[in-house]
Amino acid sequence: MKELSLHVLDIVQNSIAADANLITIRIVEKITTDRLVIEIADNGRGMDNEMVQKIKDPFVTGRKIRKVGLGIPLLHKACTRCGGDMVIESELGKGTKILCWFIYSHIDRAPLGNMIDTILTIIMTNPEIDIVYTHNYEGKEIQLDTREIKKIMGEVPINQPQVLSWMKEYLKESFNSLYGGANI
Ligand SMILES: Nc1ncnc2c1ncn2[C@@H]1O[C@H](COP(=O)(O)OP(=O)(O)OP(=O)(O)O)[C@@H](O)[C@H]1O
Ligand SMILES: [Mg+2]
Repeated sequence: MKELSLHVLDIVQNSIAADANLITIRIVEKITTDRLVIEIADNGRGMDNEMVQKIKDPFVTGRKIRKVGLGIPLLHKACTRCGGDMVIESELGKGTKILCWFIYSHIDRAPLGNMIDTILTIIMTNPEIDIVYTHNYEGKEIQLDTREIKKIMGEVPINQPQVLSWMKEYLKESFNSLYGGANI
């Protein structure tokens, strides 16, 4: 079973390929309403309506799907299999937002996976792109904003090993307080 964090990595790759320089990743875990929401938004080149329709519903067009790829269809399928769905909003020249949700307790829902390593991998390999990562668990929220870190770091590159390990510690501690010591 594919971890959801790997889907996040896939979708973020699309934003990077679309020349985004700001990507926001928001995860909301709401046990009380049995929902898991993942939202990824970018300020990349965007898509026209026709493109948005084509990638949202890949099973109609068979072979054409191969031509446009599998990242979005796979995540879409993962959502619908778990009583959720995906909405894509995009505007040419402005950016794209992918919103998807799952029934939290659905038996087929893949685990979230290691979000800390996923976010750090994105930052490490794309230091010039700003990432705003928000994770909400039952109304409690943590955030990592590379724009803030870059401000503090000045000339020091954000993907410098010491900065990365500082961010890792920061995220670990944040998650601990978020989940109140529950397993991650
Ligand atoms: N954030 C985005 N901004 C602009 N265009 C996008 C974005 N996400 C997807 N697209 C367009 O939709 C296409 C399909 O995306 P999808 O992730 O399904 O497949 P892919 O990226 O082409 O291939 P794969 O993910 O399988 O490597 C992309 O090739 C791109 O043209
Ligand atoms: Mg892709």
